[in-house]
Amino acid sequence: MASDARLAEGIGRITDALHTLVVDLDLSREEWMRVLAFLTEVGKADEFILLSDVLGLSVFVDEYANPTDEIATTGNVQGPFYLPDAPVLDPPYRLAGEDEPGEPLLFAGRVTDAVTGEAVGGALLEVWQADDSALYDVQVPGAGPHLRGRFAADREGWFELRTIVPPPYEIPKDGPVGRLLEVIGRHAWRPAHLHLKVGHDGYRQLTTMVYFEGDPWLGSDTIGSVKASLVVPLERVPASERWDRPHAVCSFDVKLRPLS
Ligand code: BEZ
Ligand code: FE
Repeated sequence: MASDARLAEGIGRITDALHTLVVDLDLSREEWMRVLAFLTEVGKADEFILLSDVLGLSVFVDEYANPTDEIATTGNVQGPFYLPDAPVLDPPYRLAGEDEPGEPLLFAGRVTDAVTGEAVGGALLEVWQADDSALYDVQVPGAGPHLRGRFAADREGWFELRTIVPPPYEIPKDGPVGRLLEVIGRHAWRPAHLHLKVGHDGYRQLTTMVYFEGDPWLGSDTIGSVKASLVVPLERVPASERWDRPHAVCSFDVKLRPLS
């Protein structure tokens, strides 16, 4: 019989850790049965990834695989709301029309090579975000693609996207993971953020999130994914030639790590 040595090692380590926990916590049989009943519910509700998120394991595993880079832009988890085939946008790039509810936001920056500092012209960006009522399109039955899109930086690496400022939101909390958070006295909030992927041939693909200074949930993100270098100011500016309505500006430069 073929055996999977790696799996056997992992199961052995988990078993040892659980045995130690039973003793350390003086766990009763009833308590262990409650643990098993909870995990059964998590499986039935398809919430194991959400459980991994709120336990900080998704972020931990991601950081372990992609240790913080001294020079390139810090990465972050993709989260559950990414779709691979987001609409390809035409310039000038907009994720939202003029009548989209929410504060208009200009998201702009430059993509450069983290080692040489030179422009990464034509880098491909993907952005996806929640709407003003704190929902992603995939959470709205029948909505179709909304507030997500793909577009390219120009030859000098510059990009500019018109959208709205996303609000903070609560992760789904109507299932067993939400109940767990409530029982242990934790909230379900994530600070407002934009999700971003940036790629170009010859560079390591970046997946990350951009947060905004002053957000009340920055210090207690329920999935623990806020990193200081990804928190940027939102500047409020009046209508101008650049955009004929008052808007917020989020400037975020991206440094890509070349594949060596
Ligand atoms: C998000 O960033 O969109 C997200 C991440 C983890 C759980 C739920 C949502
Ligand atoms: Fe998100």
